[in-house]
Amino acid sequence: MKIAVLPGDGIGPEIVAEALKVLQFLAREGLSLEFETGLIGGAGYDSAGDPLPEATLALARAADAVLLGAVGGPRYDTLARPLRPEQGLLRIRKELGLFANLRPAVVYPELAAASTLRPEVVAGLDLMILRELTGDIYFGQPRGRRTTAAGEREGFDSMHYSESEIRRIARVGFELARGRSRRLTSVDKANVLDTSILWREVVIEVGGEYPDVELSHMYVDNAAMQLVRAPRQFDVMLTGNLFGDILSDEASMLTGSIGLLPSASLDSRNKGLYEPIHGSAPDIAGRGVANPLATILSVAMLLRHSGGQVQAAGRVEAAVRSVLRDGLRTADLCAAGQTPVGTQQMGDAVVAALARQ
Ligand code: IPM
Ligand code: MG
Repeated sequence: MKIAVLPGDGIGPEIVAEALKVLQFLAREGLSLEFETGLIGGAGYDSAGDPLPEATLALARAADAVLLGAVGGPRYDTLARPLRPEQGLLRIRKELGLFANLRPAVVYPELAAASTLRPEVVAGLDLMILRELTGDIYFGQPRGRRTTAAGEREGFDSMHYSESEIRRIARVGFELARGRSRRLTSVDKANVLDTSILWREVVIEVGGEYPDVELSHMYVDNAAMQLVRAPRQFDVMLTGNLFGDILSDEASMLTGSIGLLPSASLDSRNKGLYEPIHGSAPDIAGRGVANPLATILSVAMLLRHSGGQVQAAGRVEAAVRSVLRDGLRTADLCAAGQTPVGTQQMGDAVVAALARQ
């Protein structure tokens, strides 16, 4: 398997280095893996004047999977929109057709107390947010700025979903639900938005092909509320791009730390880009304190979804659970009185635990 490695900005290089240790360990055991590194985000802008340099896109196209750290930083905040690091991420998703974004939120028993919600509300949570990633108001035209007749500045964006875009993400949702507890909640704002009315219609049509999956619908505002009220009612949540962006950040806090959540962004043939859902955390970059577990868990998703290595994926996940059971905590997970381990120590501990799985 050819893996394009795009560390990006901020803590990206540090956490990707730890995830690579895990992959290199599996390679030493006999898994056939090849790595090639490329620049994206602010690093791409600094070296090539482009947050997604042509060479990086070519590398990603040629690879079977992409492992990404994070992009962005305060140095780039004043750049024009097309040059900003986030555009590199949005463009690679679009260019590679990565329309299906899987964002699992799992509460490990050891960490139920790390959530800001009461442990009895989140204990045992195992939720999958499936976010459509290449459509919606993120990419809709027209968008831009103009001056109104009254001489006032105005910004505008367009929310769009076509029937085929909804149908293909809905199928992924029903298939995912089939492999879990067969419950799918589709999130929309069909009481207000035409886009959402079509979304709901098409999801119901696709649901006809999956009579074994229990389909329900929820308005996004209610879903945001239910996620903190009683999150275990959900199994798979199916969302558009914008709603999924917001709800997945919310869901991450149920698990105790955004530093734990991996993600997979897949095309129609299971080629994927794998990244932690947290950002580049410029405030702690370079200090060796970032939590590498979300990136390591992203490697597990890479092995499972793009590599067909279900067993190796399970071992990586078991290794992560094992270091948490042993009490290792990076600073983001530490309760008062606990001593944090650094990024590298955590990575090394996962590799050591992997050797025992
Ligand atoms: C995410 C991020 C991105 C998004 C940003 C960085 C463009 O928030 O992956 O959730 O909005 O999709
Ligand atoms: Mg986001």
